[in-house]
Amino acid sequence: MKAMIEVENLTKYYGPVLAVDRISFTVPEGKIVGFLGPNGAGKSTTLKILTCYLSASDGRASVAGYNVFSQSLEVRRRIGYLPENVPLYPDMKVKDYLKFRAELKNIPAKQRKITVEQAADRCWLRSPTNMMERRIDQLSKGYRQRVGLADAIMHEPAVLVLDEPTIGLDPTQIRETRHLIQELGQQHTIILSSHILPEVEQTCSEIIIIAGGKIIANGTPASLRDQVTTGRLVLEVRGAETAAMVKSLAAVNGVKKVDVAAEGQWARLAVTPAAGQDPRTELFKAVAGAGWQLREIRRESGSLEDFFVQVTAQQQLREKTAVA
Ligand SMILES: Nc1ncnc2c1ncn2[C@@H]1O[C@H](COP(=O)(O)OP(=O)(O)OP(=O)(O)O)[C@@H](O)[C@H]1O
Ligand SMILES: [Mg+2]
Repeated sequence: MKAMIEVENLTKYYGPVLAVDRISFTVPEGKIVGFLGPNGAGKSTTLKILTCYLSASDGRASVAGYNVFSQSLEVRRRIGYLPENVPLYPDMKVKDYLKFRAELKNIPAKQRKITVEQAADRCWLRSPTNMMERRIDQLSKGYRQRVGLADAIMHEPAVLVLDEPTIGLDPTQIRETRHLIQELGQQHTIILSSHILPEVEQTCSEIIIIAGGKIIANGTPASLRDQVTTGRLVLEVRGAETAAMVKSLAAVNGVKKVDVAAEGQWARLAVTPAAGQDPRTELFKAVAGAGWQLREIRRESGSLEDFFVQVTAQQQLREKTAVA
């Protein structure tokens, strides 16, 4: 599959502040990729660099095969960008604003009317309620966001870059925007940012988790869920009193703690390894050596949500220490 976005060791300093720290990723053509991270993670900074609104301090980035730094005109032509704060002219009518944007995007005069109408239709600006004659400062946040989206898709860009597309929207609007993004995803490659895990999980085929300017994890929602473990090992054992087995396994090299997860014919024991240790082989030997039976030994899986909460907490901790 062709890569539509390629980022390699991208780095951005704002003065002394390291906002993006050598990140690398690719977005294949036709995918919807979610950039997920807490506030201050570096999402907007990365997206601004991809859309040529900001220069990088180091690294490389390309969109549709064009270099973001040396071929910015070509890149801009192929990108539709919904920025964090959509810069709208408050006293313009929606229709006039979109026409003005069409002109800026070099859409020929003859085609402007139909182009604007089509984009407006796709973002529900003409029906069920026609908003085209409204002044922009009289629109709700959700409708402003739709105007921003209509602007972003108007020139049929290959790539859409959407910075927090659903922020500030009510639940109905969030659902509608999510559907719109999925629909747009059939014709465009999309990278969107969010700090809401369920939203990214529902909309995106791939997720890149970023915190403190670094990529912490990436993959499909399912593969990320597989990667997330609690750090504990779960064993199912039988052959002695549970307490005796706990005592014996707790004495194994590399084991910090053993908890009973479930009793019964088979005891399910949750083993917390000592830092940096993987005592699975030793645990197996201990069970076999005692003449007990072992029917399962596996890493305990965690929830993606817990993982994301941890990532967020770690970044906040880093920010605190950086300030202190
Ligand atoms: N113009 C700027 N000057 C100095 N520092 C900045 C500037 N813009 C962003 N930063 C810092 O860079 C880091 C990353 O910011 P960025 O806006 O990219 O984060 P974000 O992931 O988009 O966060 P949010 O979810 O709040 O939008 C933060 O520490 C922020 O304070
Ligand atoms: Mg941001």
